[in-house]
Amino acid sequence: MTERCVVPDDEGLPWAAWALSSGRPDSGSDPLKKVTIHTLREMKRAGEPIGMLTCYDATFARLLEAAGVEVILVGDSLGNVIQGHSHTLPVTLEHMIYHLQAVDRGLARAHLVGDLPFMSYQASVEDAVRSAGRLVKEGGAEAVKLEGGVEYVPAIQAIVRAGIPVMGHIGLTPQSVHRMGGYVVQGRNEEKARKLMDDALALEDAGCYSLVLEGIPGELAARITERLSIPTIGIGAGVHCDGQVLVIYDLLGLDPSFKPKFVKRYLNLHEQVVDAVSTFMKEVKERRFPAEEHTFHGKMPGDLGGVYGGGKKAEP
Ligand code: KIV
Repeated sequence: MTERCVVPDDEGLPWAAWALSSGRPDSGSDPLKKVTIHTLREMKRAGEPIGMLTCYDATFARLLEAAGVEVILVGDSLGNVIQGHSHTLPVTLEHMIYHLQAVDRGLARAHLVGDLPFMSYQASVEDAVRSAGRLVKEGGAEAVKLEGGVEYVPAIQAIVRAGIPVMGHIGLTPQSVHRMGGYVVQGRNEEKARKLMDDALALEDAGCYSLVLEGIPGELAARITERLSIPTIGIGAGVHCDGQVLVIYDLLGLDPSFKPKFVKRYLNLHEQVVDAVSTFMKEVKERRFPAEEHTFHGKMPGDLGGVYGGGKKAEP
């Protein structure tokens, strides 16, 4: 598996290269109702935590739906976990659209969000609106997510004016890895914490319907969550956010070398996959797979010599 750059934060804790990077109160847990931006706001009001995971293909989309995940993000983390890069910067709009289309085919109920990739919205408001429009029109996204604070208010307002819901993303924003000097926890002094609070309030005012808080102190995330009326979704931001998000491959433990503090592994799928594939290899080498129950047989009269060899050649 690709090595994802892990750099220590200022407590010496490892942080990851990419990651630190239904309008009805009851619909969050209702398995039949479509989850919309209104559902999420109602869930915040009702104090019901929101579960969000990343997803990149239709098979996993079906699994996450079956497990009741409310929000599915086709994240630009696909640059790391699918494409094997050490950061998200090479991901293009075309990549995002391709994966959104696949995920969309596997979904019925969950709310589908698409990440705006690096340089698809930074250069101009017009770029931002056109890129967001493509994720919705071509990819099937129901909302877009973009990284950044108050400087993106004009872009957010324009996207929302075009009828597209926007999820904000502040704190450790992986697309700014070079400006941050690595994947380092943000907002750890009063001045930086205040700037993040100002960003959060500005994004809510600009029309964001929800906000990802990544790689910030839990106390600060709790304060921001309290001040906003839109839901906050945390990753490496403590338990007091309105919801939590993880990269699905991290939750499943697919990369044993990736062990940031904020990830909990619910499964050691790396080990299980390697075990299963090793058993397959052994059985192939020992001619124990395929067994009789995996083998087709024909119902043909005679000795079949003419079909399987040894018989006369077919006439030309
Ligand atoms: O790209 C991504 O997967 C993300 C989440 C981790 C929030 O932005």
